[in-house]
Amino acid sequence: MFLKKITLFNFRNFKNLELNFEKNTTFIVGKNSLGKTNILEAVYFLINGVGFREEKEEELIKIEENQSQVLGSFLVDNDFLTYEIKIKLVNGKILKKFYIENTEKNHFQYKKDLIKTVLFSPDQLNIIIGSPQDRRDYFNKIIGLFDYQYKKSLNNYEKALRKRNKLLEAKISIDKLKEELRFWDDYLIKQGSYLSLKRQEYIDFLNSHQKVDVKFFSIKYLKNEISKKSLEDSFEESLRYRKTLVGPQKDDFEILINEKNVHKFASRSEQRLAIFWLKINEIKYIEENLKTKPIVLLDDIFSELDDTNQKLIFPIIKNYQTIATAINKIEENDYQIIYL
Ligand SMILES: Nc1ncnc2c1ncn2[C@@H]1O[C@H](COP(=O)(O)OP(=O)(O)OP(=O)(O)O)[C@@H](O)[C@H]1O
Ligand SMILES: [Mg+2]
Repeated sequence: MFLKKITLFNFRNFKNLELNFEKNTTFIVGKNSLGKTNILEAVYFLINGVGFREEKEEELIKIEENQSQVLGSFLVDNDFLTYEIKIKLVNGKILKKFYIENTEKNHFQYKKDLIKTVLFSPDQLNIIIGSPQDRRDYFNKIIGLFDYQYKKSLNNYEKALRKRNKLLEAKISIDKLKEELRFWDDYLIKQGSYLSLKRQEYIDFLNSHQKVDVKFFSIKYLKNEISKKSLEDSFEESLRYRKTLVGPQKDDFEILINEKNVHKFASRSEQRLAIFWLKINEIKYIEENLKTKPIVLLDDIFSELDDTNQKLIFPIIKNYQTIATAINKIEENDYQIIYL
């Protein structure tokens, strides 16, 4: 599947914009605030039905307008298929409609056969410099993409954890507490073990693809195991804090470049490359699971990278349709540049 054309109406800062994609790699080049990120977001929105900045959805609509539309023409086996999303602000609420070839679909039908996206955005540097929760959120999203059971277990686990913590806060006798906890502990161990297992599998997958050119990446899974023993051992302390102190809600991950911990020691370019390594593996993961190639969206990945590091990226992305933003022209052959 190849995105051939995208048309925006009243999307973010664009009143009306049409872009044609002619090569596998397209650079959107322009000065600050012209709308480069907004174009990537429009492509992401067209495919996923949501924006990528996690703000209010109405902010996708151009200021002072009340409806917006994004249309895309995809090349599929020598045929063109038109996908379209309309959003409208009605009495302060967002109404969203999905269409394939002008026929209305629900979100699930709309997304079913669409290409997948792999996005790099500068916000994702939080996977390196942010909190363990940022890292867990990232891995939850990737694993949940293909494993419905994982999503369900995560949801069940989080709900049960809240219930268990409520019990720890309750003013009841120790005997009664222990009795009540028995059910929740078994349940948490069952759901939590599945989360740990799937996280471990994804980390093993990452560690089976460690090399990018001359650089060598790896990741450690700092697993916080949930088991009868770990719950028992931490029981006294959990009473003091009135909180469950063990389990996958305490997991963390540590990325290394050439054996060096990037969270503690990496320079800005190394942080970017570490994220790029995660992205390459997202691409591979999608390819292995779906047997199709995703479209790769790279927002501002090249800033802070010197020529040598930029050159690590090109051989990888040229195998996929890639849309990248940059403030200055990038010197590389065989790509399309769209100047804003
Ligand atoms: N709903 C909206 N309506 C109108 N303008 C908007 C809306 N949302 C965002 N903008 C504006 O769109 C402009 C372009 O934003 P965008 O983030 O795409 O710029 P950019 O080209 O990526 O800039 P940079 O080089 O700084 O990353 C900004 O000035 C932003 O305030
Ligand atoms: Mg930008």
